[in-house]
Amino acid sequence: MTDTRVPLLEARQVSRLFPVRGSGGLFRAEQMQRAVDQVSVAIHPGEVLALVGESGSGKTTLGRMLLGLTAPSEGAVLYKGHDIAARAGDAARTFRCEVQVVFQDTGGSLNPRRPIGQSVALPLRHNLGLDERTSLREVDALLDQVGLPPAHFRGRLPHELSGGQRQRVGIARALASKPSVIIADEPVSALDVSVRAQILKLMFELQRERQLAYLFITHDLGVVRAMADRVMVMHQGRVVETGDADTVLNTPAHAYTRQLLAATPVPDPSRQL
Ligand SMILES: Nc1ncnc2c1ncn2[C@@H]1O[C@H](COP(=O)(O)OP(=O)(O)O)[C@@H](O)[C@H]1O
Ligand SMILES: [Mg+2]
Repeated sequence: MTDTRVPLLEARQVSRLFPVRGSGGLFRAEQMQRAVDQVSVAIHPGEVLALVGESGSGKTTLGRMLLGLTAPSEGAVLYKGHDIAARAGDAARTFRCEVQVVFQDTGGSLNPRRPIGQSVALPLRHNLGLDERTSLREVDALLDQVGLPPAHFRGRLPHELSGGQRQRVGIARALASKPSVIIADEPVSALDVSVRAQILKLMFELQRERQLAYLFITHDLGVVRAMADRVMVMHQGRVVETGDADTVLNTPAHAYTRQLLAATPVPDPSRQL
């Protein structure tokens, strides 16, 4: 069956080339590597698409192209059918609000001298144009939603928080702009195993409540099984397999997917969460 809905966010045949480090020289042409090689992907409203693949397979580069942070060398990224390379004015602001990111290491993306309440307030002021009073109220509501009691946390600096708490701040900051899609790039892999499940639980509760679409980049096939509607498998910059999560995990069509499954046992998700 062909899907006639216009995707929220779409990559059409995108590639990204990077110079191979150390390959260039005075008399040598620089060698180029295809970090992402002619990948197409469509993310629909409210769906969870998991992106899996070994380290170096191009997942982060693809995520950054979908966020408009890295320009494709070839192909195009479309938001609601419009090429994001041409975005300007209102369209640029809308895109900035609607497509948000949660990084692996939120700590590294927070200003160390800025109280976390102010970090969450920034997108409210800049992206939504809220005045100071309204944004402070909204910060408290957001901190509350991610499980950080605002009175206790809004004035804290990033280094006063645990890794899990900082990741909650990252989630609050992403939610502040009222996005419709979140690119989550291995959002729990830097955390202690003991707090991973709590953060995952929070992220997927918010996904359901707010009908968010996720591109969820992960190594954890248990999470894929428990949470994802669809899964896409990348290997050396290319998509080797994509489909319904149950189908891909239970009856993988591609040899690389079978290897990946064999290398990582899929735990019982009900025990994990
Ligand atoms: N800014 C960059 N400059 C040069 N090479 C890069 C850059 N970003 C990524 N790469 C290379 O592109 C390939 C894919 O990287 P990445 O997208 O980070 O993969 P993944 O997230 O799956 O681990 C890797 O070989 C990486 O070294
Ligand atoms: Mg990565």
